[in-house]
Amino acid sequence: MSLSLPKIIGHRGIKGLAPENTVNSIIKAIDLKIKWIEIDVKISKDKIPILLHDDLLDRTTSGTGKPIDWLYKEILKLDAGNWFAKKYSGSQVPTLKEVLLLCSKKNIGVNIELKPNKGFEKENVESVVNLINNLNFNCPIYFSSFDIFSCIKIKKLLPNFHVGILIDKFDSITFLNKTIKECKKNNFFSCGISNVYITKKIIETLKKNQIITNVYSAKNININEANKLWSIGINSIFVDNIVGYEDQLI
Ligand code: G3P
Ligand code: MG
Repeated sequence: MSLSLPKIIGHRGIKGLAPENTVNSIIKAIDLKIKWIEIDVKISKDKIPILLHDDLLDRTTSGTGKPIDWLYKEILKLDAGNWFAKKYSGSQVPTLKEVLLLCSKKNIGVNIELKPNKGFEKENVESVVNLINNLNFNCPIYFSSFDIFSCIKIKKLLPNFHVGILIDKFDSITFLNKTIKECKKNNFFSCGISNVYITKKIIETLKKNQIITNVYSAKNININEANKLWSIGINSIFVDNIVGYEDQLI
């Protein structure tokens, strides 16, 4: 079964326009007609998969420390929107469960990036798998991670789901060949690469090996750069803002 991804995927919902990894950010992306969103997922102390990018709660919530040290009922009390803009105060850290149910209702695809707290990679994957196996949801999903262990484990436990790897450094042909080998061995369908390392040669080589390529960036990729990336064979771009992309979202 193949998975068709759109040219644009909303990054952490749509992180430039609403507080990242919150329901508000996802609803904003949906309102803007984005068809797939990317979210970062890790677990709380009671092993509830939640949406949070950083290792710590500090930057994007009113809390402090690692989420693995807090029960979800404690994390739920935190404000996850005020840091972004006053009008978003009262936003909460959502669970993966509620996001999958929301996206099922709205028919939105979800890229679940497994972003475990260090040392909790196994528990992270197992908690997500447990949820996926027991939740009645119907939105399309695929998993990805910078953590190769998480990628391999989730593909083993959920062989019918698509898994892609994320690469934060792509600096040699040797590394490219190693990545291709890893994808083939584990049946990974995609490779997410930072825009810093993209070259036509890398994209062509991955494509020749039937590996889809997605691009992420620390700063929003503007439409001119996006057009260049699509023209050399990039499949999807993670976007923070849709200014310039309107024609692609009709
Ligand atoms: O999955 C693409 C992108 O989200 C990876 O980087 O740090 O934003 O999670 P980051
Ligand atoms: Mg991410």
